[in-house]
Order: sequence, then C-alpha cells, then structure tokens
Amino acid sequence: MKHTKIKALLESSEVGEKVIVKGWVRAFRSNRFIQINDGSTINNIQAVIEYENFDEAILKKIGTATAVEVHGTLIESQGKGQAVEIAVEDVKILGEANPDEVQKTVMQPKKHSLEFLREQAHLRFRTNTFGAVFRIRHGLTFAIHKFFNDKGFYNLHTPILTSSDAEGAGEMFHVTNFDLNNVPKTEDGKVDYSQDFFDKPVNLTVSGQLEAELGALALGQVYTFGPTFRAENSNTSRHLAEFWMIEPEVAFNDLKDNMDLTEEFLKYLSNYVLENYADDLKFLNDRDVKEQSAKPAKDRNPLTLIERLEFVANNEFKRITYTEAIEILRNSKPFKKKKFKYDVEWGVDLHSEHERYLVEKEFNCPVIITDYPADIKAFYMRQNDDGKTVAAMDVLFPGIGEIVGGSQREERMDVLKKKCADFNIDEKEVWWYLDSRKFGSVPHSGFGLGFERMVMFATGMTNIRDVIPFPRTPGNADF
Ligand code: 4AD
Ligand code: MG
Repeated sequence: MKHTKIKALLESSEVGEKVIVKGWVRAFRSNRFIQINDGSTINNIQAVIEYENFDEAILKKIGTATAVEVHGTLIESQGKGQAVEIAVEDVKILGEANPDEVQKTVMQPKKHSLEFLREQAHLRFRTNTFGAVFRIRHGLTFAIHKFFNDKGFYNLHTPILTSSDAEGAGEMFHVTNFDLNNVPKTEDGKVDYSQDFFDKPVNLTVSGQLEAELGALALGQVYTFGPTFRAENSNTSRHLAEFWMIEPEVAFNDLKDNMDLTEEFLKYLSNYVLENYADDLKFLNDRDVKEQSAKPAKDRNPLTLIERLEFVANNEFKRITYTEAIEILRNSKPFKKKKFKYDVEWGVDLHSEHERYLVEKEFNCPVIITDYPADIKAFYMRQNDDGKTVAAMDVLFPGIGEIVGGSQREERMDVLKKKCADFNIDEKEVWWYLDSRKFGSVPHSGFGLGFERMVMFATGMTNIRDVIPFPRTPGNADF
C-alpha cells in the first residue's frame, strides 16, 4: 500500500479507510496525539495512539522533527480543530531526532525571530511560516508560466554567462578561469583576457532582456524566467545579489500595451494566490496582522495581506508621468517641510522615500510612473519626441516599492547608435543587438518583474531574505 499525502487525506471523506502517512512530527502531546506534517499542506494530521498498545522504546523516540510512518484508519476526529484524524495501528520510526538538539533549532515549536530563522536557513523549511512562503513561491512560479503559456508566449532561456552589461550599471560579478594568484598580464600590465576561458571578460547576467528582444523579433512574444545577479553593495530589505527575474518581451507592443500587459499579469498572479493558496495565505495573513499591530500606528498598513492582494486584483493601477510625479512631490507636505532626505527636482532619480510617498500617501494604490528623463534610464529605452524623456515605466507597489521596471525599446537604428555613443557603449560590443534593428525592426516593449518582490507582496514578508530559500547578500553566501 502506498502512503497518502496529508493534504489529500484532510480533503478526503474516506472515513473508515486504511491509510499510511509519512512525515515529520511537529508535536507529540500526552503520549497520545502526534501532529504530523509532510509539507503537502500547512495543516498537520493528528495521529492518535493508544499508548498502552505500543512499545515504550518506540514512544520515546517520537518527538518534534522525528520522521515517522504511521499506519492506521482514517476516522472522524473526536476532538476539536480537525475533521479527521488517524487511529494508529502501527508507527515506524524512519529517522530519529535528538530532543536536546531539536531544542536548539528553529524546529522547537515557539516563536523565533526571523534573524534566527535566517541563520538556520537549512531548517527553516520545517516551520509553518517558511513552509507557507515556499509553497506560495512555487505557486507563483507555476502561475507565471501558465499566464504566458495561455497567451501564446514562448519561454526563452537566455545566457547566464555573458559579456554584455544589459543595464549598463556596471554592477556585475566577473567570471574567470584564471588562477587569481597568477593572472596573465599583457605587456602594458593589464589583465590579458585573451588567455581566459572565453577569450574576453565575462560576467554573470544582470538581465536577459537584450537576448529576449532578439527572440521576440522572431517568435513574437517571449519571456525569460531566470536567475540574475547584481553586485550592488546595497544591504537593504529589498535587494539580493542573486534574484530571479521574469522578462516578457513583445513585438509590436508600445508603452501603453506594455503597461496593460503588466497590470493584467500582476492582477492574475494576485488572484492565483488568493484562489489556490487559501490555507497558507490565512496563516500568513494572521502573522501579518500581528506584525502590523506591533508597529507604530503611522507605519501600519491599513489593509490585511489578503485585502492587499484583493486590492491589486480588483483595482486599476494609477498611471502618471515622471514629470507629474515630480510636481506632486514638490507640492507635498514632506517636501515643503524639508522632510525628504533627497532633493526633488526634474531630472533626479526618485528615491524610495519619494516612491513610498506617492504610493502609500498620495494614491494608496499601485502606481505606474512613465516617461523618465533619458539620462537616468538605460540606453535601450525609446526616445520620446520631446528629446528629453524615454518611454520607460516603473510599477510601484505599496510596502514594496519598485516591483517592475520596463520600457518600449528604441527600434530606430540611428537613434540607438546615438544612444550607444551617449552612454559610452562600444558599438562593436553590441553589434548583434544593433543588427536586429537592421532586418525588419519594429516597435517592441517588455518589462522585468523582480520575482522575490512579488513573493514578498504575496506573502507579507517584509525582508527579501525571507522569500528565497538561501539568500545571497553582501557578506553572505552561506548554505
Ligand atoms: O528595473 P530593472 O533593473 O530592469 C531590468 O533589468 C530590465 N532589463 C527589465 C526589462 O525591461 N526587461 O529590474 C527589474 C526588476 C525591478 O523592478 C525589481 O523588482 C527587480 O527587478 N530587482 C531586484 N530584485 C531583487 N534584488 C535586486 N538587487 C534587484 N534589482 C532589481
Ligand atoms: Mg528599475
């Protein structure tokens, strides 16, 4: 007989059936009630034993974290809190866990700080919070592929090792095969990359966009979903050195089409989690309510986690231009009272304090800001007719800040070449990208969703380190 997943058992009405369950003990009370979890759901199944019928040596081994195999009959629960439970006929110990050692870990059933949980990232999967977060992370991954597949997009695997700097921000991790204690040098003392593995400097990708554009200009609509790497030394709750990004790219889409696609996509993802992860969401919602109530009133989110997801699913995003955003900010109370740390004037990049003001105070809803000054955005963005701004868009979410960045791409060869010059990009380095503008160039657009920022939004976790299994941040690449 095969064992049944606990999720299926709890949903089944096969009372009276013989069942086998395999999982890890969460708690063992009164020598009688074993709470077992197998990861298929946040809910445990209760296995009830008549301890008089069991070998004491076996009972002694049952405790938090022990792996067990339980044989018994599914019965209607005698107690409160669950509909069904297992009347146990046999228990096998599959893997022991020393209670003294368990006590020192995050598996000990009590409240632990998220910092402590991070130090034990290898064990935090065993907790309710992280079980819920990683089930939802999976659900979002699946929903993303489903959304694009249903729309006829093709998933494209773009390179992870690359010689280009797509964003031009110079925040790349270099990849080399050199013995770093003995690096070959040219006659003038520079590193001789011609002797390296790829014959030239190579880095980990910061974005798959440039390659995705090439795909879109033949396959019509494509998307990437891969790891991206940024060596930005910003130790914040929203930045990782290794994060996952989803980058759709669509031929013939202009900026408005791009915004419409983004909005539909983010609504779809919010709905998907609401519809498919109710149990995990309920747990995280309660958790979030507790966290919010511990904050000072002015920092509290007026909506619960579930309400925030429903809000995104059911309300239109506000769309404003960068120029309008600057005007709103300059007329705001914090600006007039000199409460902003960074100055606001046309031409500067918006800082997170400004974005938060717009999203959380002024509009209280997701905001799409478009048409940024060309100087503060990447070289590939399409020049607007005013000659000053580009067809860029950033989507800002309450509590998260920037969740999506995108744009219409510059499809005109002459303008693109001029942008390369302005941004000091050697045409020889991006010849293949420029080539795509030579053969049937068309307007096209795309965006990048920071996957972990979406997982943060969907789970209510406020530190990005808590939505990826093993976070990589400055000074930390453990596990
Ligand atoms: O705005 P970004 O830099 O845009 C691009 O990379 C474009 N190539 C996307 C495109 O148009 N195809 O990054 C996109 C998103 C950000 O909005 C943010 O959500 C996320 O990626 N992101 C990060 N997430 C975690 N840690 C970091 N260090 C991140 N940097 C960007
Ligand atoms: Mg951006």
